[in-house]
Amino acid sequence: MQNYVHAIPTKVYFGKGQIERLPEALAAFGKRVLLAYGGGSIKRIGLYDKIMALLHAGGFTVTELSGIEPNPRIESVAEGVRLCKENNIDVILAVGGGSTIDCSKAIACGVFYEGDDLWQMIVTSGGFSKALPLVDVLTLSATGSEFDGGGVISNMTLNEKLGAGLTYPAVSICDPTYTFTVSPYQTAAGSADIMSHIFEGYFSREDDCELSDGIAETILKTVMKCTPIALQDPENYSARANLMSCSSVACSGIPEYGKEDTGWPCHAMEHELSAYYDITHGVGLAILTPRWMRYILKKDPTALPRFVRFAKNVFSLTGADEGALAREAIDKLEAYFKSTGIPMTLQEVGIGPEHIEDMAAHAIQVGRLDRAFVPLTKEDLAAIYRMCL
Ligand code: NZQ
Ligand code: ZN
Repeated sequence: MQNYVHAIPTKVYFGKGQIERLPEALAAFGKRVLLAYGGGSIKRIGLYDKIMALLHAGGFTVTELSGIEPNPRIESVAEGVRLCKENNIDVILAVGGGSTIDCSKAIACGVFYEGDDLWQMIVTSGGFSKALPLVDVLTLSATGSEFDGGGVISNMTLNEKLGAGLTYPAVSICDPTYTFTVSPYQTAAGSADIMSHIFEGYFSREDDCELSDGIAETILKTVMKCTPIALQDPENYSARANLMSCSSVACSGIPEYGKEDTGWPCHAMEHELSAYYDITHGVGLAILTPRWMRYILKKDPTALPRFVRFAKNVFSLTGADEGALAREAIDKLEAYFKSTGIPMTLQEVGIGPEHIEDMAAHAIQVGRLDRAFVPLTKEDLAAIYRMCL
């Protein structure tokens, strides 16, 4: 078990009705608010009106940044920075999913960035910098952005999508009822993302991190239990609430206590897919994960014991043939993703072989895949992409 240092400064208000805490949470930082949101779902679900009523009653001045894209663009970050500077904003209020929260984190840091090119802030971000305070209201269970300090921003001109250490939300309001309206597609994709955050740390060389592995296995089982319920019965509070808790914990670093950084290989590969083809993050991960698993198992037989543990503890598989156990667990995972309605090939999401070499090369260049559970080369990544076609 490795040493670790961990601090999460985010205060989470979880559960029904916690939105009433919003005025108090914002007022701690000032009265001039930048309200940031996406393409309009918050208006359709009535949350926008509710928030505006609270803000007006509380005497806040509101500037709006709307239209933040899924896979948020650097241009939206720039627009948000401009609005913050022009309106002397005290605090950013992000209302939405991971894209809106990530974009808001970058805006919060961008206000203090001294260079001319905000994309360079993302490229060079090595840690946390000075930022405006950020409060968020989460509407989609997926990324964990509500409880971590990272953000992922896209530059479609350069075909780059990069994660950066930015800033933690000061306050996250996590009311599962706001996720009742999330589409089946985004619900399934969000759940795949939560699971991938677990896989990225679970498949590591440390075998003595019982707490981390136990949390990881519980999250995987919880997500696979609750997602089909949420798909069948979108307003099932218990299922939505469990998914929301899993979202926050899975990407928080807690399931990786005591583990070495693995370079998060599926995320490195997925960010390339999104950068070239603008696909939904969780869908890309679901397509990649079973293929990555089969590939590394074949490449390095010393990976087998981890897969056997996964098979036994997550899928309750039994049997003496360890190779068969591992293969069955991967097949079951793929079947689970399929059962939630996720397209399971790249062709189904409009991706062909044309950029495989470029994506593999770039993922190696910006990633840390030499330290992965099974270290990966450019040729390995290209082979995994091809397995997904
Ligand atoms: O834009 P609006 O109209 O709000 O609609 C969104 C969007 O179309 C919709 N939606 C959100 N809440 C809804 C809703 N629709 C109905 N009812 C609701 N309550 O869902 C769509 C997707 O939203 P988005 O925010 O893009 O999804 P998600 O939360 O999955 O975020 C994905 C982004 O986060 C990054 C991904 O790469 C991607 O850019 N990630 C961020 C991480 C982090 N900060 O730690 C880690 C992750 O690994 C991930 O990379
Ligand atoms: Zn993710």
